[in-house]
Amino acid sequence: MAERVVLAYSGGLDTSVGIGWLKDATGKDVVALAIDVGQGGEDMDAIRQRALDCGAVESVVVDAKEEYANDYLVPAIKANALYQKRYPLVSALSRPLIAKHLVATARELGADTVAHGCTGKGNDQVRFEAAVAALAPELSSVAPVRDFALTRDKAIVYAQEHNLPIEQSKKSPYSIDQNVWGRAVETGFLEDPWNAPIEDLYTYSKDPATPREATEVTITFTEGVPTAIDGTPVTPLQAVQLLNTLAGDQGIGRIDIVEDRLVGIKSREVYESPAGLTLITAHEELENLTVERDVARYKRGVEAEWANLVYDGLWFSGLKRSLDAFIDETQRYVSGDVRLTLHAGTPTVTGRRSGQSLYDFDLATYDTGDTFDQSLAKGFIELWSLPSKISARRDAAQ
Ligand code: ARG
Repeated sequence: MAERVVLAYSGGLDTSVGIGWLKDATGKDVVALAIDVGQGGEDMDAIRQRALDCGAVESVVVDAKEEYANDYLVPAIKANALYQKRYPLVSALSRPLIAKHLVATARELGADTVAHGCTGKGNDQVRFEAAVAALAPELSSVAPVRDFALTRDKAIVYAQEHNLPIEQSKKSPYSIDQNVWGRAVETGFLEDPWNAPIEDLYTYSKDPATPREATEVTITFTEGVPTAIDGTPVTPLQAVQLLNTLAGDQGIGRIDIVEDRLVGIKSREVYESPAGLTLITAHEELENLTVERDVARYKRGVEAEWANLVYDGLWFSGLKRSLDAFIDETQRYVSGDVRLTLHAGTPTVTGRRSGQSLYDFDLATYDTGDTFDQSLAKGFIELWSLPSKISARRDAAQ
């Protein structure tokens, strides 16, 4: 039996042509693996069949939507994960999951190599290969587009010459990656960072400028995990799917950013993540109610580090695991409800409550009968500012 390579297959031009290229270049039989992370669009069965039609010896489809939501999106919600404070890691979160399945399939079907369709200029190649290295050091990785210098033009010629069942007419000027957590759109006229995005780019969200009635929604969290929407119990996947609709219909979740890629390039990216931004906004506010000041403040730094690690492809790393342990510990009391008004592109928190709240009305109130002893404040400030006072005296004496 020929050696085998497992290719992360999307059904698009590059990975369809990649099947033949891989076989030609390596002599190995190609197994196609398509992962459903809620990217929508084409039927997964059609994608499975196309891989076979393009020459794969086996074609496997995995519905990983629940796994993606439970094991990748939930940690991102707990971490309020935003790279450069804005990007909810739409692509970065899906790559380690896909890599995990590549490894599992390679082991199951006796392959010694895994492959993906990334170019040599992006982050995703790093995420795939770093994850594979961490999970299965015995496997090697190959990227036909990058390693065999296969341009799009060459791919089109190859597809025509070999009569591959790929529709060229659907070719979009953009490079798009999408899953249930959101969409990433790059290239085309967006490569000039001065060019404004056009309405056409967006599919998960409606135009926030269109006048419409606001939507009110209440999200319930249990230890940091979304567990109900408007009182109806939901799985994390259902929460994300439902909020994509509710928030997307209000134009929420659009992001236009110049982003620092790991490979050193600055790139202009347009994203939409209606559920992502809504859940993170709600979750962070519930933390404001339930997590004590020092922990919350320290956690904000951990969150930035977590987002950097995930962005940089280090999902399966010791540091990421340790940060997860810290974050999980902080979520112990992050249970309760957050009410938001969704309108005109913004999720606005209008109420929060929790059985584990640290908010003490009697301490906070300015009405009579408060329990806060204001006479203690004076002495506290004396000691709090003592080091500043002493050093100021020294400075004045210089
Ligand atoms: N820049 C984003 C990231 O690195 C999105 C990448 C999107 N991938 C793509 N093949 N279009 O996470």
